[in-house]
Amino acid sequence: PINIEFGQEAQAAATQKLKIGLYFATWWALNVVFNIYNKKVLNAFPFPWLTSTLSLAAGSLMMLVSWATKIAETPKTDFDFWKALFPVAVAHTIGHVAATVSMSKVAVSFTHIIKSGEPAFSVLVSRLLGETFPLPVYLSLLPIIGGCGLAAITELNFNLIGFMGAMISNLAFVFRNIFSKKGMKGKSVGGMNYYACLSMMSLLILTPFAIAVEGPQVWALGWQNAVTQIGPNFICKNKWVVAQSVFYHLYNQVSYMSLNEISPLTFSIGNTMKRISVIVSSIIIFQIPIQPINALGAAIAILGTFLYSQAKQ
Ligand code: 3PG
Repeated sequence: PINIEFGQEAQAAATQKLKIGLYFATWWALNVVFNIYNKKVLNAFPFPWLTSTLSLAAGSLMMLVSWATKIAETPKTDFDFWKALFPVAVAHTIGHVAATVSMSKVAVSFTHIIKSGEPAFSVLVSRLLGETFPLPVYLSLLPIIGGCGLAAITELNFNLIGFMGAMISNLAFVFRNIFSKKGMKGKSVGGMNYYACLSMMSLLILTPFAIAVEGPQVWALGWQNAVTQIGPNFICKNKWVVAQSVFYHLYNQVSYMSLNEISPLTFSIGNTMKRISVIVSSIIIFQIPIQPINALGAAIAILGTFLYSQAKQ
């Protein structure tokens, strides 16, 4: 009987691994598609506050329809749930808009190289919250920080807003992941619905700011300019906006379904590995010029994340 039990346990563990592997692969693939359409949209229509809002709106709408048509079960939430979600939504909104502002100013690959430094922010925040780590963890931050720094100073189209946006996004997302994991623990709301509620709350938070920072007049003028410059073809490009918004929701939803099953640390490592596929595919698709020293910086930063994950384990 012990052997049978052991066999069942091993099988359950293998199934769980396969499930997480599938989540990760889907998450990364959806994220690559999102990043490509997002950048195409920002190139033609550089209004990151509006496009960030539209991504949240599309996700919220998709989930409301899924609940109404019973494709997904409507979550049972109470006031305490929404209260606990608020700081997560604030962090998600800041991290999302900051990353999109960054990508509107610099190459997608550059934003993601800086965002591969997220584990360093994770250690910093956890340290400030009183957690201490063994020496190898701190040492592994050196290649992460050094590699990101090298990639940043050798970046051909460096832009301070682009750099700061990615840094702010890193910090905000560390808080988002810590608070989310706490909020999901022992609650009946699973990863998919948790992200749906998060999207809706973030949409409410972001909309007034998007109107204040950019606003309808700026958007209308930008629209006219795009139509004049790109021609009637621009209207067809609206499907890019739809694609970036839908894929934004889908990749985040899948990432939250995996966060439901794994620790914030594993999540953060999976997220950094995801950036390799985004960096490589965007360099190929957008033909981003990079220098060998620049690529070396990115490689060192990513290697640092591997070392960090080993040291943390
Ligand atoms: C966003 O718009 O929220 C960012 O592109 C997300 O970045 P992520 O790769 O950390 O999810």
